[in-house]
Amino acid sequence: MNEPVLQTRDLRRSFEQGGVRIDVLRGVDLDVQRGEIVALLGPSGSGKSTLLQAVGLLEGGFEGSIRIVGEEAAKLPAGGRTAMRRDKLAFIYQFHHLLPDFDATENVVLPQLIHGATRPAAQARATELLTQLGLGHRLTHRPNQLSGGEQQRVAVARALANRPPLVLADEPTGNLDEATSDRVFGEFVNLVRNEGSAALVATHNERLAARMDRVVRLHEGRLEELA
Ligand SMILES: Nc1ncnc2c1ncn2[C@@H]1O[C@H](COP(=O)(O)OP(=O)(O)O)[C@@H](O)[C@H]1O
Ligand SMILES: [Mg+2]
Repeated sequence: MNEPVLQTRDLRRSFEQGGVRIDVLRGVDLDVQRGEIVALLGPSGSGKSTLLQAVGLLEGGFEGSIRIVGEEAAKLPAGGRTAMRRDKLAFIYQFHHLLPDFDATENVVLPQLIHGATRPAAQARATELLTQLGLGHRLTHRPNQLSGGEQQRVAVARALANRPPLVLADEPTGNLDEATSDRVFGEFVNLVRNEGSAALVATHNERLAARMDRVVRLHEGRLEELA
């Protein structure tokens, strides 16, 4: 059971745009171990989102190997990928994508119900996570009644609700001001650590990256390991 949560080998992804081919990922080898939090650095356009989308099994079109908790995802049929996404992965985006008509608690409850939890268990878990993130007094607020930082905390709670082995985060605090970003980011890292999940976190913020266990950088379509 010591296999990495995520292992990619020679992962490649190209796009055709107006007859021109862009090789964005040119052979990415990446291991993320259980419980490890890895920062994915790289300037805008270097392919961070492309890598997260491939690893998140959100679209096909890549070549190479993606193993998630020991299982080769690249060869799974669509149904198997959906199940793997639901059971093994969670996502946090720059913009929260919360359900606007549901309050904070319900946004964290619903994915658990879809995952098979009972309502009382899902509600207890939602309350626990939101309280740990400092939102104990915002449980029944809807997204438009929350600040940007509070919305992103709800998105963090939602992502961790089903205890995913791997959280994929794409510039999760990218639309927050610096002080709020620092705070929410710190809470996110603490919660992922407490929960024992692993995370791959795209950011172009080197200061935030330095707070993670390991830093890798995308450069010309491949990964460099940084100290
Ligand atoms: N669907 C697409 N079609 C064509 N080109 C794309 C597509 N998605 C991304 N790209 C290109 O791939 C490169 C990497 O993009 P992206 O992964 O979004 O970078 P980052 O997240 O690091 O800013 C960019 O040059 C972008 O224009
Ligand atoms: Mg991006």
